[in-house]
Amino acid sequence: MINNFVYQIYPRSFNDTTGNGIGDINGIIEKLSYIKDLGADYIWITPFFVSPQNDNGYDIANYLEIDPLFGTMSNFDTLVEECKKYGLKIMLDMVLNHTSTEHEWFKKAMSGDKEYQDFYFFQDDKVNWESKFGGNAFEYVEEFNKYYLHLFDKTQADLNWENEKVRAEIYNVVNFWLDKGVEGLRFDVINLISKKHPFVNSESIGKEQYTDGPRVHEFLKELNKNTFGKKEVLTVGEMSSTDITNCKKYANSNMEELSTVFHFHHLKVDYKDGDKWTRDFFDFKMLKELFKDWQEAFCEADVNDSLFWSNHDQPRIASRFVKAKTEAEQLRKNKMLAASMYLMRGVSFIFQGEEIGMLNCDYTSINDFSDVESINYYNLLTDPDKLEIIKEKSRDNSRTPMQWDNSLNSGFTTGKPWLKVNSNYETINVGVEKNDPNSTLSFYKELIKFKKENMTLVSGNIKFIDHEELLIYTRSSNDDSYTVVSNYFDHEVKYEYNNVIMSNFDANSTTIPSFGFVVIKN
Ligand code: GLC
Repeated sequence: MINNFVYQIYPRSFNDTTGNGIGDINGIIEKLSYIKDLGADYIWITPFFVSPQNDNGYDIANYLEIDPLFGTMSNFDTLVEECKKYGLKIMLDMVLNHTSTEHEWFKKAMSGDKEYQDFYFFQDDKVNWESKFGGNAFEYVEEFNKYYLHLFDKTQADLNWENEKVRAEIYNVVNFWLDKGVEGLRFDVINLISKKHPFVNSESIGKEQYTDGPRVHEFLKELNKNTFGKKEVLTVGEMSSTDITNCKKYANSNMEELSTVFHFHHLKVDYKDGDKWTRDFFDFKMLKELFKDWQEAFCEADVNDSLFWSNHDQPRIASRFVKAKTEAEQLRKNKMLAASMYLMRGVSFIFQGEEIGMLNCDYTSINDFSDVESINYYNLLTDPDKLEIIKEKSRDNSRTPMQWDNSLNSGFTTGKPWLKVNSNYETINVGVEKNDPNSTLSFYKELIKFKKENMTLVSGNIKFIDHEELLIYTRSSNDDSYTVVSNYFDHEVKYEYNNVIMSNFDANSTTIPSFGFVVIKN
């Protein structure tokens, strides 16, 4: 079992050293000691490659160069050197399911070059699949009366992995970055790379035609063999709408494919009837069942799970599920969520700002938002409350500038930030929290250290114990055993316990307060 904490950096919102309002690589370098001090082992940096930025870098126009927005290759080389000094490893984000339509491969395809048209899916007819960002997933090209597939924005054209030449190009890209000293790889929506052929209409929105597709495991094995397989690299695949059976293969213990996977079912328990664009709903029973099913299945199969509450695509976890009514409750909630998640079994991923309890943004108008998905859905939704829905669900919630201190623009930039800073930055920021032993930040440090020092919490078995109102699991090995009890609700729950070794309240052995948690040594 891999015992690692990964700190996720969304560079454009992390730390700006040039004053252009967008974070940069030098900004990351400045904060390495902060990340090391938190206890992280890796930094995962979301894409900083050349891109028109229609999807903030997930639309790559050149995989082998750095977008000047974020700095230069020499800045990156310095980052590699500096990370070594701190004992931090670098994980890069490989977006290999699609390229930007600005990529030279796509441009050649558009100029009529048949070889490059085969790099993508150009075809005579469209089918009814929906793009994940709304609307049909096929874009018409008048010049040659054909459609191309884009599972995301129309400026993100899907690559044809069936074509060996495409796969060879992809291996070059991955090896280029490994040769530069990268020791971790996150593969964006990697379970979408194998589509069923020929494309046919779907009875729903198309997912079953391209998710965990027919050749996906073969492609991943080949990618592994040709790139990171022989090296010590931590790999995580982002899996869209996947299942346990496939994930056990993706992260199988023979290491033939990836080290671990991101799956997202636990972050859909506040989607009413499976629809993200809804509000005020939390299915605790479903959350409990999902944790139990996935964690126990992975444990039994000796597969590495991933532990995470947030990333750049999710609203802030501190604002989700049952709402805290007071600041004291919010603080307890932040700590409970962290303990409840990161004491489970798996590799942990902490998204920038989560460790200080950053909240959803407090925007008042659609003009405050920047994310392509949020704006598309704002235009598509018919609900009169659609601004409220976007406010709760937008990906921009996690993309607001990092709150470093209470100076201008939260210490993120001296210029005009590309996205508005959350107005709560004067009270929620690193500067205030690092000096407060009771803060969310101090707790994250303590929790990471605690887990690292207790191998049972890393590699021990996990078993869930059913309870109507509490989430309870035990972690055990031949050496010792712990029980973690968490209250996700805003009311007190009766529960008898002893031998508490960690908690977020004055443990009294008979009740758990709103958002309380205890770790019990059995
Ligand atoms: C992944 C990324 C997301 C991006 C999408 C398309 O889900 O995390 O930010 O928009 O893939 O690349």
